[in-house]
Amino acid sequence: MNELLKVGVLGCGEFSEHFIELFLAHPYVDSVVVCDVIRENAESFGKKFNTDYCFSLDELLKKNINAVAVFTPRHTHGPVVIEALKHGKHVYSAVPMASEISHCEEIVKLVNETGLTYMMGETCVYYPCSMFCKEKMQNGEFGKFVYGEAQYHHDISHFTEHHRADVKALGVPPFFYPTHSLGMILNATDSYVTKVTAMGYKDTEDDPYFKKGINLWDNVYSNAYSLMRLANGGVIRINECRRIGCKAPSSSIPAFYGTKGGYQFSNAQHIFTKNSEGGVDLTDVSDYLNPEEMTKNKNLPDFKNRVANHEWQWDSFSPIQPHARLPKEYDGLGNGHMASHQFLIDDFCTAAYNNILPTVNAWLAARFTVPGIVAYESLKKDGVPLDVPDFGDPPQILQNR
Ligand SMILES: NC(=O)c1ccc[n+]([C@@H]2O[C@H](COP(=O)([O-])OP(=O)(O)OC[C@H]3O[C@@H](n4cnc5c(N)ncnc54)[C@H](O)[C@@H]3O)[C@@H](O)[C@H]2O)c1
Repeated sequence: MNELLKVGVLGCGEFSEHFIELFLAHPYVDSVVVCDVIRENAESFGKKFNTDYCFSLDELLKKNINAVAVFTPRHTHGPVVIEALKHGKHVYSAVPMASEISHCEEIVKLVNETGLTYMMGETCVYYPCSMFCKEKMQNGEFGKFVYGEAQYHHDISHFTEHHRADVKALGVPPFFYPTHSLGMILNATDSYVTKVTAMGYKDTEDDPYFKKGINLWDNVYSNAYSLMRLANGGVIRINECRRIGCKAPSSSIPAFYGTKGGYQFSNAQHIFTKNSEGGVDLTDVSDYLNPEEMTKNKNLPDFKNRVANHEWQWDSFSPIQPHARLPKEYDGLGNGHMASHQFLIDDFCTAAYNNILPTVNAWLAARFTVPGIVAYESLKKDGVPLDVPDFGDPPQILQNR
């Protein structure tokens, strides 16, 4: 029988604030409880959203809930997700899946054994660049995939003051947060990584983030670059940079090529080419992929600079995004990250309620996460190529549900 969701939100910080109203408004959600180890955070969210609240995962798991939504800091997800699954809860987790391969493996195993819903909330699978490359791969216009580039560039100076105060955590190895770049491109190629070689940029700036003895990992690399081989024979270049002179879009696919066609992107320009007799046919697909609010403003004299500063990249849908499928209760509610938030929460709630596989299920989440963990090992060994473990596709029985 379908059961409405009673969601426990773990972590009352900057990110979860955008999601609680989406859980509360979803037609498959009955109630929400919020939880944070910092008492004031839990209390203030409880008051703001008019929900019950508590102060630890143990307390939360004893509440009347059947799902946990994890929004704790990025390096903490594995153990709390495992705990929630072991207590029989469906889990929605902010990215990444975990910071240890064994945790990813255990999450996949638990989901397989229990049939519970696990979904990783990878915002970038709903980024128009990724949706476009996927669409063109699926209809055959690119031919066979040969090469692609994806990146998540987020300069340390653009993190909020609250995050920059946490010097122990902010210097996390960039490849431990690989899911935006990997997710965008793997989502489009429908393949997975088999081998990786990586190099890093040793930070030299005079601030405390990427220093031995300060961050939890003794990580000294602020930027990390890799080449990864895919199971389909293609090769991808993945960058994770935290010391870099750019702001937006932070996650992008600058280039994506098949044997018959390609996609290129810069600032707000999206170009699609298809091989033709002795040349190419070029189509500017910018108006199809940019958020509608961005397109409305494209003739402003300072348009490109405003795009480079993240304008119009939060709430506004782009024509490629299927927003008509969202619940009517979401009309007028907040969104975020290229209007991806509403799709993600709808995907999770729909999957858990109907007992079907969610978009970024445990198997896919592992494919978006594990190559980064291996890439950090390669980087520390100055680029030695390493094999990447893969936990396979979801079993047929789950795919057929
Ligand atoms: N585009 C994206 O997908 C995207 C964007 C931003 C953040 N995120 C992810 O969202 C998560 C949260 O980020 P944030 O910016 O809100 O961080 P934050 O530091 O603002 O909030 C995290 C909160 O979790 C609480 N917390 C820590 N451990 C806890 C525990 N064991 N139990 C209960 N509460 C605990 C902290 O006290 C804090 O209030 C991170 O994993 C981050 O990677 C994803």
